[in-house]
Amino acid sequence: MTRPKTKILVDSGDPQETLRAKELLGFVDGQTTNPSLIAKNPHIKELIASGHELSSREEMDEYKKIVQTISPLVGEAGVSIEVFSDEKTSAQEMFSQGEEMYTWIPNAYIKYPCTAEGLRAAQMSVKQAIRVNMTLCFSQQQAAAVYAATKGTKQPAYVSPFVGRLDDIGQNGMDLVKNIKRMFSKGDGHVLVLAASIRSLEHLLYCFALQTELATVPAKILELWASKNTPMPDEQFQYRASGKPIPYEELDLEKAWESFDIQHELTRKGIEKFAADYRATLARPA
Ligand code: E4P
Repeated sequence: MTRPKTKILVDSGDPQETLRAKELLGFVDGQTTNPSLIAKNPHIKELIASGHELSSREEMDEYKKIVQTISPLVGEAGVSIEVFSDEKTSAQEMFSQGEEMYTWIPNAYIKYPCTAEGLRAAQMSVKQAIRVNMTLCFSQQQAAAVYAATKGTKQPAYVSPFVGRLDDIGQNGMDLVKNIKRMFSKGDGHVLVLAASIRSLEHLLYCFALQTELATVPAKILELWASKNTPMPDEQFQYRASGKPIPYEELDLEKAWESFDIQHELTRKGIEKFAADYRATLARPA
């Protein structure tokens, strides 16, 4: 197969899926996890089904075991580990989790949300040479804020635009990826675009055509791609979008991150859902 320039990450909290994808493709560049995916991990599901609700320490320990299993299976794009946060979590609290999670494996990327607190946590992290993946990105302004907040990082930072969730609200999610790539082409290259919330083969092929640096893909889409003999987009490839176009914004990447409008309803909802899925695995207070 022609290995795409875009690094392929498995979007999953289950090491078995990493193995399956690796077997099918012969390689896996990395993996992304999140609290919803961890709640779906077969071992965690078994624990919950048997009536064992976890303490937050136990949940952290289980998460650690999962990423420690995945870590040696993947390549240089690493394993993204997401901090647990809700609308009240401070930057310091996120950073403390991030610091601990970063010690779990040698190839960790710490995921923080594209919120003011998440960006502050990212700023603290890059100063300590902790690699970051800024998640729940739904706007070009958020991506510009990520660029500004992580400036000076010694290692590339990732930003994860969520394609499928924008499609879900009737927008062309791939436009966001295209717009961020265009905006970053004028930058210094310290932020890499990791296309996330990929739901179809067309999404994946368009990522290849746009040459996004990375894409995180559910195992079933990778299986579909493999079943078709891993096609690559040719010159004639046209992405057929169903949603409303997202216009490009002219933004100044040299501005302070605080000057960008980073509010987005889907970021707020995304944090709520991750927090709910995380809490569902925890013991209820007596
Ligand atoms: C990966 O980093 C994201 O958490 C994931 O791609 C989200 O995908 P979803 O919108 O299908 O939940």
